[in-house]
Amino acid sequence: MNDSKLVSVAIDGPAGAGKSTIAKQVAKEKGYIYVDTGAMYRAMALYLIREGIGYNEKERIEEACTRADISIDHVNGEQIVLLNGENVNSLIRTEEVGNMASVSSTNPKVREKLVSLQQKLAEKRSLVMDGRDIGTVVLPNAGVKIYLTASSAIRAKRRYEELLAKGVSCDINEIEKDIIERDKRDMNREISPLKQAKDAILVDSSNLSIEEVKEKILSIINNKEGM
Ligand code: DC
Repeated sequence: MNDSKLVSVAIDGPAGAGKSTIAKQVAKEKGYIYVDTGAMYRAMALYLIREGIGYNEKERIEEACTRADISIDHVNGEQIVLLNGENVNSLIRTEEVGNMASVSSTNPKVREKLVSLQQKLAEKRSLVMDGRDIGTVVLPNAGVKIYLTASSAIRAKRRYEELLAKGVSCDINEIEKDIIERDKRDMNREISPLKQAKDAILVDSSNLSIEEVKEKILSIINNKEGM
């Protein structure tokens, strides 16, 4: 890699591995923008819900792609997702939107639209982009590719503690069951399934703190940049 060139760091991995927390911090440290591609799939899902479109209405979902304008902006390092010009950041983190995103992201038209937007972003800025298919499909030539994972038990424990801290009572076994099901769906879908790119470096965060994962990924990037 060369300093005068744009740098793309692709971070893929299953839900709950800590991708967004880590990607955000790594981007800040390097002075790159952070792109959360899951938020784009969620904004698209919000549009579908608002339009009253159901999970199985393939044609209506595809038609909706022509009307939903999704873009992102950055304010103080925070990614803002705009749906037809409206900041929808505070509306896309619900279970309902997550479930719709999980289903609608399997639609080829939805993926085509958002992948093209993601690729255009990487042509303009150095960035850290996280998702499921960044190293394999969106940015196959990314200078750095990381596959960040953790065991399902550890991911369930983290989510459980997050919910407890918010005062939400829940069953850790149910959470782990949901995580395993979501992994299965993400890894076995027909288009752009979640998988480690051949040239991605595997980072298992199961026994590492956020700080340790961040340092590990920064050292991978810095080593590549020095090459
Ligand atoms: O990372 P997340 O939970 O915010 O992602 C929401 C959904 O979008 C998730 O079910 C998988 C999907 N997704 C995808 O298919 N490809 C991406 N690059 C990012 C997310």
